[in-house]
Amino acid sequence: MSYDIQIGLATPREEADIRRRRHRPPYSLESFLEWEEEAAARGATQWVMYNEPPTTPEIKGHDIDRTVMGSFQTIPRRALVASRRADGQVQVDKVPCSLIQAMFVFEEFRRQGLAAKALRLIKDQLADYAEADHQGIRFLFLYSYVGPELYTQGGWTSFPATYATLPTVSGPDMASVPDEVEFFDVKEVEKLCLRDEELVREELLRSYTSGDDAKSKFVVLADWPAISWLEACEEHVARETNTGALSLKGARARTRAGTVWCIWTRIFRGNGEIDFQILRSRVDAAAANDNSDLSAEEAEDQITSGLAAVLRAAQIEAGRWGCNNVTMKNPPPRLVRAAQRIDPSAQSIPRSKICLPFLHWYGGAEGEETPEWLQNESHGDF
Ligand SMILES: CC(C)(COP(=O)(O)OP(=O)(O)OC[C@H]1O[C@@H](n2cnc3c(N)ncnc32)[C@H](O)[C@@H]1OP(=O)(O)O)[C@@H](O)C(=O)NCCC(=O)NCCS
Repeated sequence: MSYDIQIGLATPREEADIRRRRHRPPYSLESFLEWEEEAAARGATQWVMYNEPPTTPEIKGHDIDRTVMGSFQTIPRRALVASRRADGQVQVDKVPCSLIQAMFVFEEFRRQGLAAKALRLIKDQLADYAEADHQGIRFLFLYSYVGPELYTQGGWTSFPATYATLPTVSGPDMASVPDEVEFFDVKEVEKLCLRDEELVREELLRSYTSGDDAKSKFVVLADWPAISWLEACEEHVARETNTGALSLKGARARTRAGTVWCIWTRIFRGNGEIDFQILRSRVDAAAANDNSDLSAEEAEDQITSGLAAVLRAAQIEAGRWGCNNVTMKNPPPRLVRAAQRIDPSAQSIPRSKICLPFLHWYGGAEGEETPEWLQNESHGDF
């Protein structure tokens, strides 16, 4: 059967029904509803896919007249977009963008092309909605957890993604936290998110090394609203499952070539397993002290050692919580080299099914080509 679906904002009654349908372990229903309230307070907007039968204009729009068949959410996020201006200077702008998440088609309507159709409507209609709401979003992005076909059928542009893992550390080895490592709590994460944004800006500017590099580039910011969302989600499930709150949110090492850090979280699977994920790894070379006598190779070696020490701390912390492994999402080459110092078999593996990034670029000027998406790791719950 073919449905003539539309998308629109959920009414409160529809939203309540969707939350009940989307509920799944490890949450109890009550706890899931609580989290969804918190997500809404943090900016999640609930949308529905619905089938609207022919109806008279005056009753159109009332939820009694439409059959809701699925849903999705939009989450406001921010990005830095860099482009070369006509005068040759590189300009970096902070712009709003929107993360699409929780694509969900009610079971009785699946495999009839509804999600793919909705994805096409989302591209077309969200720009209008955002414009009316004065948000001025430049692009939409999402991550697939069911492989690429659904989203390519919906007309979205895919980007490659990778991951790497390290085993957790348990037993006597858990006492071996490297001396140079210092763990930090959530207050420090907020400060590091601010520094992260400055580093992204510098990295974007530095990436325009050759005069003819005209292509625009962007990075979705791992800022405090984005990172604290995941930390809050982690704490919520930890409370629900009596797993205990994670007070150490990351670790840092100061080296002579700069400071390096990783911010992490735990992801609770429905089957009771817990993954330990590196949400963000950063190198702040500006924080180097007295490195004038270091060669470029020596400086790089210091950074790699620092990152390896921080990863070691992550393995130990993951072991303490009984997690499966430490997962790095889209690990930069330096982080992979650091992981290889711990486990030579560690490597960057291309993703084929989960955490696959997709983009729809609205852009600014007409004819503007889709820019390069840098640092496109998902800060999501997989
Ligand atoms: C994933 C989901 C949204 C798909 O909705 P749907 O309306 O059934 O999808 P469509 O009928 O539009 O599928 C279009 C294509 O996407 C792909 N696809 C759809 N569901 C898929 C799935 N579960 N796994 C892998 N590919 C899938 C197929 O290629 C499909 O084409 P085909 O039916 O000709 O093989 C739905 O199954 C769902 O709500 N699942 C539970 C929540 C979920 O997993 N969300 C995904 C978040 S990324």
